[in-house]
Amino acid sequence: MTGFGKRPDTIVHEQDPFNAEPARAALGAAPITPLDTFYARNHGPVPDLDPGSWRLRVGGLVERELELGLGELLGGRFERCEEVVTLQCAGNRRAGLIAVRDIPGEAPWGPGATATARWGGIALGDVLAAAGPRPQARHVAFVGADRSEEAKPPQLYGASIPLRKALRPEVMLASEMNGAPLVPVHGAPLRCVVPGYIGARSVKWLERIELRAEPWDGYFQSTAYRLLPPDGEPAPLAGMALGLVAVNADILIPDDGAQVEPGPVEVSGYAFAGGERHIGRVDVSADGGRTWRQAELLDDLGPWAWRLWRIEFDLASGANEIVVRAWDSAGGLQPERAESLWNPKGYVNNAWGRITVHARG
Ligand code: MTE
Repeated sequence: MTGFGKRPDTIVHEQDPFNAEPARAALGAAPITPLDTFYARNHGPVPDLDPGSWRLRVGGLVERELELGLGELLGGRFERCEEVVTLQCAGNRRAGLIAVRDIPGEAPWGPGATATARWGGIALGDVLAAAGPRPQARHVAFVGADRSEEAKPPQLYGASIPLRKALRPEVMLASEMNGAPLVPVHGAPLRCVVPGYIGARSVKWLERIELRAEPWDGYFQSTAYRLLPPDGEPAPLAGMALGLVAVNADILIPDDGAQVEPGPVEVSGYAFAGGERHIGRVDVSADGGRTWRQAELLDDLGPWAWRLWRIEFDLASGANEIVVRAWDSAGGLQPERAESLWNPKGYVNNAWGRITVHARG
C-alpha cells in the first residue's frame, strides 16, 4: 500500500513525510500525468485543512492587507484561468549524482520527480493587484501550513519568487488539478504553481503571501534549494539560489535494465526546458553516444510543459546503451556527464539520460 491514492507500483522514498515517484513506464504513459502517477515531494506532514475555515492572508509591503476565504478567491471576483504546467523538483534524477559520490540524508530520486498537470485556479497577479504592491516590494513569499522538522528549530515551509515573475499571467493560485479539486497531498485547498521554476517554489497549502524587499529568509529558500560548489557546506545564503529549471531529458520506456527481443524497439521519454525556453531538439543514441538520431517530439502542450518524445531503434542482441540529450530554444545542451554536476545536496542533475537494455538472442 503506497498511500495518498498513488499507484501500487509507485516508488516510495519515504512514508513520513510522504515522498514518492512513479515508475518510469507509468510516467511515460501519458502527456498529462494522472493524479495517481504524479510525484509527491513533502518536507513535513500533509496537513488536512478545512476549506470552510481556511483563509489566505496577503501582507508585507502592500497598500492593503487582505484576508480572503476560498469563496471570495474563487467566486468570480478574480478571473478563472487554466494552464498546463510541468513541475520539476530540483532533486529530480539525484540518483545519477549519488552514483558519482554518496549524498547522505537525501533521497535517491530517479527521473520521476517531475510531472505535468492541467492546473485550474486564478492568477496570482490579480490577487497581488488587489493588495497593491508598494514600490519597495521586489519579492513575493509564500508560506504553507506544514511545519518541517528538517529546519532546526522546525518551521513552516516557505519560499519566494521575484515580484516581476509573480505578476506574470502564468503564475497561478491553483485549486484544481486535471479538472478535479486539488487533493490534500498536492496542496489543497490552494497552492502556488510557478511555471518554469523549480518545484520548491510552488508552495502547497498556501496560507500567507508576503511582499518583501528581499527573498524569503526561511530555511527552504535561504539554506535548502541552493546550488553549492562540490566542497561547500549548507549554510544560510551559501552557494546560489535555484530558480529557473535547467534543460533536462530522460528515457522512460523501456525501463533501465529491461530485457527485450532483438529487433525494432520503441524508445520514449520526456524533455523539459525551464524558464521561458522550450525544447528545440531531442537526440537519441542506441550505441552509447557514438551515433545519434533525432526523436519525434509529441504533443505540444504549451509554453510551460514538457515535450514527450519517441523514436524506434533496431536493437542487436546483447547490451545496448541508449542515451538521450536535449537542446533548449537558446541552443543550450544538457551536459554529458553527471561527474561535473555533483553537489552536496544533489540538485540539478541534467546530465544526458542513459539506460541499458538487454536484447536476448
Ligand atoms: N509546499 C509545501 N508547503 N511544503 C513542501 O514540502 N515541497 C515543494 C513544493 N511545495 C513543498 C511545497 C517541492 S520541493 C516540490 S518539488 C513540489 O512542492 C512538489 O509538488 P507535489 O508534491 O504536488 O508534486
